[in-house]
Amino acid sequence: MTTLSELDEAVRVIRHHVPAPPTVGVVLGSGLGGWGDALADLVKLPYAEIPGMPRAAVVGHAGFFCAGRVGDVPVACLQGRAHLYEGHPLAKVVFGVRVLARLGCRAVLLTNAAGGIHHGFAAGDLMLLIDHLNLMGKNPLVGPNDDALGKRFPDMTYAHDPRLLELARAAASEAGVPLREGVYAALLGPSYETPAEIRMLRTLGADAVGMSTVPEIIALRHMGVPAAAISCITNLAAGLTRRELDHAEVEETARKARARFSALLSAWVRRAGEDAAARSSAS
Ligand code: HPA
Repeated sequence: MTTLSELDEAVRVIRHHVPAPPTVGVVLGSGLGGWGDALADLVKLPYAEIPGMPRAAVVGHAGFFCAGRVGDVPVACLQGRAHLYEGHPLAKVVFGVRVLARLGCRAVLLTNAAGGIHHGFAAGDLMLLIDHLNLMGKNPLVGPNDDALGKRFPDMTYAHDPRLLELARAAASEAGVPLREGVYAALLGPSYETPAEIRMLRTLGADAVGMSTVPEIIALRHMGVPAAAISCITNLAAGLTRRELDHAEVEETARKARARFSALLSAWVRRAGEDAAARSSAS
């Protein structure tokens, strides 16, 4: 279990370097790490300097906390995420997004790479998550509940915040980037699925499959912070083509989609930031 005082220790260190509170938090998945480096007024902190954050060596990707601006919107961003399959407890996997929440982010936007299951999907498509299936066999809220963080039994009807979904659609049309929609199934990994598992997932209503994001969405819902996510469909899921799945191919497709995904993410962040600011000045 993560306690408020552990989070606040991390927040204290971050505030020392970045005094202004962020409005929007962002989690960068495979291939999108560079988006964080393009923030205006960038401040970058290695996870190792932030107490409680997963160590960069096991995060696989970058492992930096980035703060800066997109237009006028103050942004905090996690460059590199910890996965359950790396052996981290889920409390560690979601620690970064809990820090974003405690820093004051009023919306958190997540990105990931996923395999496409829906018949109409192609590699390189972007998909807005309208709902999820948690098939990881774990939940980040297991264990004693800290009531200061959130409720014991949080609602998941609106885990993918309807307002942020609308803003993503608007951002996609503004950026001229086609955006699919679907249900994301989260599995433990790290092996890819079997063709039989993909048939099962399709029967269960999944449009895409991946190994992340759902724990973060649950933790943010627990803390009452609106969250939503977009997947880059980096490959068709196992058995949908004759080819074997290969991580290098996943990375290559993510790289090719990067310009489109970055443009969409920037437009989404701007809209989410303006929406949060408008709502706080109205209240
Ligand atoms: N399965 C699970 N996770 C993934 C995939 C996949 O096919 N592609 C990218 N992440």
